[in-house]
Amino acid sequence: RDEPLVLGIETSCDETGVGIVRGHTLLADALASSVDEHARFGGVVPEVASRAHLEALVPTINRALDDAGVKLADLDAIAVTAGPGLAGALLVGVAGAKGLALATEKPIFGVNHLAAHVAVDTLEHGPFTGPAIALLVSGGHSSLLRVDDLSAGVTPMGATIDDAAGEAFDKVARLLGMPFPGGPPIDRAAREGEATVSFPRGLTTARDLQSHRFDFSFSGLKTAVARWVEARERDGSPVPVNDVAASFQEAVCDVLTMKAIDACRHAGVQTLVIGGGVAANSRLRAMAQERAAKHGITVRVPRPKLCTDNGAMVAALGSHLVAAGRRPSKLDFPADSAMS
Ligand code: KG4
Ligand code: ZN
Repeated sequence: RDEPLVLGIETSCDETGVGIVRGHTLLADALASSVDEHARFGGVVPEVASRAHLEALVPTINRALDDAGVKLADLDAIAVTAGPGLAGALLVGVAGAKGLALATEKPIFGVNHLAAHVAVDTLEHGPFTGPAIALLVSGGHSSLLRVDDLSAGVTPMGATIDDAAGEAFDKVARLLGMPFPGGPPIDRAAREGEATVSFPRGLTTARDLQSHRFDFSFSGLKTAVARWVEARERDGSPVPVNDVAASFQEAVCDVLTMKAIDACRHAGVQTLVIGGGVAANSRLRAMAQERAAKHGITVRVPRPKLCTDNGAMVAALGSHLVAAGRRPSKLDFPADSAMS
C-alpha cells in the first residue's frame, strides 16, 4: 500500500496504451490499437496513428482505471512516453498526460520509450539486482545497452547501423506476402518450416567485429532474402515460404543472441534483459535461454504481451522513478521524437 500508484501513457507509435501499477505490481494494462488501419498501407501512417490516439486516449484511461479499481485521485504520479517515436503520436499522449496532471495536481514524468521497454520486466521478475545488459529489439530500434540503475538511464554499447530487427521482420514478411506487422506471421510460419537456407549474419566477420562488435545490420539480410525469393520466382519454382521464414528468423536470432551474450561476458554481467516487440519472438526467447545458460547468464524476458508497446511499461518506469526519489518533469517538457 505504501508503494507508489502510477498511471502510464504510451502513444509513440500505433498502440494507445494505458497501464496502472502499484510498485512492481501490474493492476491494469489497457490497449487500443490502430494497427488494422495501417495494415493495408504495409506500415504505420503517422497521421492515422495520431488521430486514432486522440479518439482512444480518454476511453483507454477510463478502462485502465476501471480495470485497476482505482480513481484518478488515488494516483501518486502520471508517466508518459516523451520519446522517441512519431512526433504527432507522441504529442497526443504528452498533451493528454499534461492535462491530466494539471487537473489532478499530480506529478508527471516524461519518460524514454526504450528505457520503458527494459523497465517492464520488473513487473514480472521484480527489480534488477546489480547491472544488466539489455537487448532492445523493436520496430524502430535494435540496441545493446548496459543498465546499472534504471532510474539513472542506460548506457548504449551498440545499435543497428541500418534497419531495426522488427523492421527486417516487417519487410521480409511483406515480400513473402504476409500481413503487417510481420513478426507474428513469420514466427508462426517458421514453426512449420526448417531453417534450410543459410542467410548472411550481418557484422559478424572478424573484421566487422573489430569496429562493430556490439552493432547490428539487417538490411543485407533482407536483401539476401529478396534475391533468394526472386531467383526462385524466375525459375518458376515454388517459394518454400515456411522454410524461408525459418531461415530468416534463425539468422536474426543467431546474431542477436550471439552479440547479447558477448556483451554480457565483455561487461562481466550475469543478467540479460530482452525487451521490445521482437522479444515476443518464440525462437529468440528459446535461443537466448539456451545459449545464455551455457555461460551462467540469466535471461529475463517478460511475457510476449508486455514485450510489444503498452502502457504498463511506462507505468513501470514511472514507478521506478518515484521510488528512486527522482524529481518530476516540469509541465513544459517537450515531446522528443528523436530522443536518444
Ligand atoms: O516494441 P514494438 O511493439 O513497437 C516499437 O516500439 O517499434 O515493436 C514492434 C515490432 C514490429 O516490427 C513487429 O513485427 C515486431 O515488433 N514483432 C515481432 C513479433 N511480435 C512483434 N517480431 C518477431 N517475432 C514476433 N513474435
Ligand atoms: Zn516499442
